Amino acid sequence: MIHIPKSEYSRRRKALMAQMEPNSIAILPAAAVAIRNRDVEHVYRQDSDFQYLSGFPEPQAVIVLMPGREHGEYVLFCRERNAERELWDGLRAGQEGAIRDFGADDAFPITDIDDILPGLIEGRDRVYSAMGSNPEFDRHLMDWINVIRSKAHLGAQPPNEFVALDHLLHDMRLYKSAAEVKVMREAARISAQAHIRAMQASRAGLHEFSLEAELDYEFRKGGAKMPAYGSIVASGRNSCILHYQENDAVLKDGDLVLIDAGCEIDCYASDITRTWPVNGKYSPEQKAIYELVLASQEAAFAEIAPNKHWNQAHEATVRVITAGLVNLGLLQGDVDELIASEAYKAFYMHRAGHWLGMDVHDVGDYKVGGEWRVLEVGMALTVEPGIYISPDNQNVAKKWRGIGVRIEDDVVVTKTGCEILTNGVPKTVAEIEALMAAARAHAA
Ligand code: GLY
Ligand code: MN
Ligand code: MN
Repeated sequence: MIHIPKSEYSRRRKALMAQMEPNSIAILPAAAVAIRNRDVEHVYRQDSDFQYLSGFPEPQAVIVLMPGREHGEYVLFCRERNAERELWDGLRAGQEGAIRDFGADDAFPITDIDDILPGLIEGRDRVYSAMGSNPEFDRHLMDWINVIRSKAHLGAQPPNEFVALDHLLHDMRLYKSAAEVKVMREAARISAQAHIRAMQASRAGLHEFSLEAELDYEFRKGGAKMPAYGSIVASGRNSCILHYQENDAVLKDGDLVLIDAGCEIDCYASDITRTWPVNGKYSPEQKAIYELVLASQEAAFAEIAPNKHWNQAHEATVRVITAGLVNLGLLQGDVDELIASEAYKAFYMHRAGHWLGMDVHDVGDYKVGGEWRVLEVGMALTVEPGIYISPDNQNVAKKWRGIGVRIEDDVVVTKTGCEILTNGVPKTVAEIEALMAAARAHAA
């Protein structure tokens, strides 16, 4: 299995600590277990920031980083080993495992945190934490601070500054290392295979969820624990619902099906969309829209390179799509004016992409000092233009209505441009029709 090596977690902790102010402490909680219903839990997914700094996969844990601490800079609070609980719920690292396998300098039972953590905070000037994102943890943090304050008359020194950890950490997460790109390539490879399998299985009469099952099969077979987000399998007019989730309609001859799905490997997402004809052959209108979206995506790729800014790729898609809609008679007027008045938004209402990483919509600022961010090597993003012609749009000829097309790939900025991670899935009309025809011939 391709994964982030242990050495990388240690490098990240050191890099974060190097950026922290002198005499400070950072504190981060693991994700809580989410109850689905009664005795059933949701599949556990570690908090991305916590995972980024530790690779520690368990709930009920807290990372403490104290740059310069003589007795160890990295302290992990975690569950104790417990033979009975482990019989029911699975193995735990325990404190020994936290030190041996996860690089902690010191580890304590999570049940002792109220007794120990105030002592670690005491005397530090600043506390870094993700304030506001976890109200329960924020309350605990204030309780620990108040323990120190209550001992001020004995000489205890409470911290006086609280700093949002997000800013430092999320900027680090925006730049992907070689190891991260390798994991993202693997997630992309498996997701590409999943899209191919769904294309091959596509038949009128099946349900959208039948294709979702094909995706899930490849995800799991590839070692992914779960999709990076709820898979969208949207056929016919459902393709015009951007985050369609029902996935239970019947696939009809003559309709398109839009699939937006990607798996997660070692907590790194992939995010791919392809749109193909249920019966294996695009109609003339479907083909015209499809090739327009594809041309806009190609134009966007050309705008992704170091020193280009974040919005250039989006602007390229808007220009190509607006001009194309005019050519097809779906918009009337001057292209520049239609762009200025945002007339294209009736058909293309979302942005051309987002940062991609541990979160599918990954962290990182899109603007710096009020200006669009300039792209740099190692930034990962999606490129996903689309055209959605509402089934209720009375301004266009009937033959266009209900066509929704999105094409989405994942890229990493390189020295000279960008690497497309998701090239493993066919994308041109000819490639997709050939793949589907071959699958049909094979099945016949
Ligand atoms: N899958 C959600 C998105 O493409 O942003
Ligand atoms: Mn996306
Ligand atoms: Mn997507």
